[in-house]
Amino acid sequence: MRLVITGRRNARLVDLASEYPDFLVPFSGDITDSLFQEELVRYSTAELGGIDLLITAAGAGAVGPFFKSSTETMRKVFEIDFFSPIQLVQKTLPQLINGRTPAVVFIGSILGNHPLPLHSAYAAAKAALHGFVGAVRPELVSYGVDVNVAVLGPTQSEFWDNLISGERADWSQGRPLSAEITAAAIVSGLERGVPVVIPGWRAKSYILLGRIFPSLIDRFVCWKRRSFAEHQSFAEHE
Ligand SMILES: NC(=O)c1ccc[n+]([C@@H]2O[C@H](COP(=O)([O-])OP(=O)(O)OC[C@H]3O[C@@H](n4cnc5c(N)ncnc54)[C@H](OP(=O)(O)O)[C@@H]3O)[C@@H](O)[C@H]2O)c1
Repeated sequence: MRLVITGRRNARLVDLASEYPDFLVPFSGDITDSLFQEELVRYSTAELGGIDLLITAAGAGAVGPFFKSSTETMRKVFEIDFFSPIQLVQKTLPQLINGRTPAVVFIGSILGNHPLPLHSAYAAAKAALHGFVGAVRPELVSYGVDVNVAVLGPTQSEFWDNLISGERADWSQGRPLSAEITAAAIVSGLERGVPVVIPGWRAKSYILLGRIFPSLIDRFVCWKRRSFAEHQSFAEHE
């Protein structure tokens, strides 16, 4: 098995690929660029002799009050978190249909199930992605292409260093699940043909609570934000 890995930072991809030369093939570019998407599909098809699996993992967040957010930032979030994955699937579909046990993995977020304040654009983009996946799954399955969405909670990564705008709120610092456990859960879900994978008990609990008692999450977040604000003003006066 071989995998083409992509992202904008070529040096990072080349470094990683050099650790697994028989397995990883680097190909850098901006996934929001439609021409690059076409090039990526062409390159992967030629390099691998076809495409059996597409994992649309690229994503980025933005944090801040809605009334201060620019439409440009919101569009950027939607470009990377919503439009890129769906365009890539559309462009890869002709190859996937001819693949061996073909599958697509989308990376969603618990905020797409139940949003948090200050994360409006990101939560909306992930909710749109979840809705899209639910609608196209039966379509793609009818072509023999399996569809899986991994709904992640806080996960160890560079996500918070790579925000499109804003910075992580003090009150939202959850304990992250390791990248290895997350990846293993996604692979296991793929092997079992599970349509939705939610790695880790924290993410599972959040989703369950968001379904049965959403106001509890909202009240807890309100309380956490208030106590952080009080703590901050107390520290400033000391
Ligand atoms: N970490 C979390 O807590 C968390 C929680 C829920 C969901 N997620 C989702 O998990 C997925 C992976 O994110 P992560 O946590 O691994 O964050 P990350 O460490 O920041 O990784 C994001 C990846 O996306 C690539 N990327 C970003 N913009 C790109 C663009 N325009 N073109 C090409 N590649 C681009 C980045 O590479 P370059 O910078 O080199 O382009 C990087 O490899 C995302 O969809 C994210 O929304 C993460």
